[in-house]
Amino acid sequence: FEDDINDLLKFVEYFPDFPKPGILYKDVLSVLNDRNGMQLLEKILKQISLQLMGKIDCVAMLETRGYIIGPIIALQLSVPCIPVSKKGNLPGTLIEQSYTLEYGEDILTIQLNSIKKGQRILLVDDFLATGGTLKAASNLIKKSGGDIVQGLVLMEKCDLEGRKRLDFPIISLISD
Ligand code: PRP
Ligand code: MG
Repeated sequence: FEDDINDLLKFVEYFPDFPKPGILYKDVLSVLNDRNGMQLLEKILKQISLQLMGKIDCVAMLETRGYIIGPIIALQLSVPCIPVSKKGNLPGTLIEQSYTLEYGEDILTIQLNSIKKGQRILLVDDFLATGGTLKAASNLIKKSGGDIVQGLVLMEKCDLEGRKRLDFPIISLISD
């Protein structure tokens, strides 16, 4: 498993001054630009799914890049996968939550009744920085009666200590 993670690191691409000057953007999903990288990501996510088998009733995936990881894991676990989306991108009756990002502010939404009361939720995203996004998403899921039992991100920016803001355990593939 460790070797796979080290191999995954080689596919991370670095973009200085994105999305704003002074921010070094680490793009884990550049792994998808490469056939071998994609297969490696799938292999790693399958191994993690094995650990979570039988413990999850629904995967909640964060827009934008969580959408790519969520279905891979949900298929492995044979559970549904629901979107937690930026305001304006989901139809129907929504529950909203505003939040602060490392760079800016936004509103997250989920569709009313997309989560059933008492469901054990796995929350997935690409990146954990300040934890503001996962915190807002977890508030939404709790409002819907869901029980977040696990979080999963591809990469964690450890010095921001985002996981300390969260009251559920986080698996991060790459610690930065
Ligand atoms: C990025 C990233 C995480 C979030 C992490 O998303 O994809 O979702 O920031 O930051 P935090 O832990 O400080 O909340 P962003 O909102 O920039 O947009 P995107 O996912 O649509 O690219
Ligand atoms: Mg995001």
